[in-house]
Amino acid sequence: MTLLSLRNVDAYYGRAQILHDVSVEIAAGERVAILGRNGVGKTTIVNACLGVASVHRGQIAFGGRAVSTIRHFTAARAGIAVVPQGRRIVPGLTVKENLLLGGAVNRKGAWTIDTVFELFPMLRERTEMAGTALSGGQQQMLAIGRALMANPDLLVLDEPSEGLAPVIVDGLADTLRDLAASGTAILLIEQNFGLVHRVAERYYLLSKGAIVETGWLAGLSMETLKKHVAV
Ligand SMILES: Nc1ncnc2c1ncn2[C@@H]1O[C@H](COP(=O)(O)OP(=O)(O)O)[C@@H](O)[C@H]1O
Ligand SMILES: [Mg+2]
Repeated sequence: MTLLSLRNVDAYYGRAQILHDVSVEIAAGERVAILGRNGVGKTTIVNACLGVASVHRGQIAFGGRAVSTIRHFTAARAGIAVVPQGRRIVPGLTVKENLLLGGAVNRKGAWTIDTVFELFPMLRERTEMAGTALSGGQQQMLAIGRALMANPDLLVLDEPSEGLAPVIVDGLADTLRDLAASGTAILLIEQNFGLVHRVAERYYLLSKGAIVETGWLAGLSMETLKKHVAV
């Protein structure tokens, strides 16, 4: 079953066209990466799916159903949870409150405050702390935990490795592989190949707002890779 699809999407901020004829498809249980350098439109793909960038042409479908009016909660209700670039931990809320916010969509499933704390025990020890007082790596765990609270079928992560120490990225790779093994589909958006090659099986390469190549990671040449991402 297809969880998310963009078909021939042109997306804009105001009059500025950022995405050109973008088609991406992710099926249940898949591990897919969108790769591309800074400024090519990776986050705009996420924003188009959340109704933040406007879609002037093409179609976006959640769970095989075309969405006419795209909003943040439309995606969450359809089982698509986003870990946004820069984590976006809500200031003024505790760790626990940030997690509860993620669960507000009220989809049933294995993820609850307790199971998130089992996955990330360091969050349990900091339940009442302000979420923004956590370190970068801990904030990333909180952002992932918050997204899991929606019990998603698809977890979208926008540059999760950004600003994290290599040892923290290693832990993140293990976490994402475990999540995928438990059946959650992963869409990993990155300009850094280090995390991608340990998590994804299939890729799309984005350049200047257009998909220039797609395929299996195993078949991606070093030459192409060096042209489009940091290795
Ligand atoms: N809110 C916005 N309004 C107008 N232009 C934007 C906005 N956000 C991003 N852009 C522009 O859109 C292009 C793609 O940005 P983005 O999708 O954030 O790239 P990436 O995530 O690949 O780094 C860039 O040229 C950026 O300057
Ligand atoms: Mg981005």
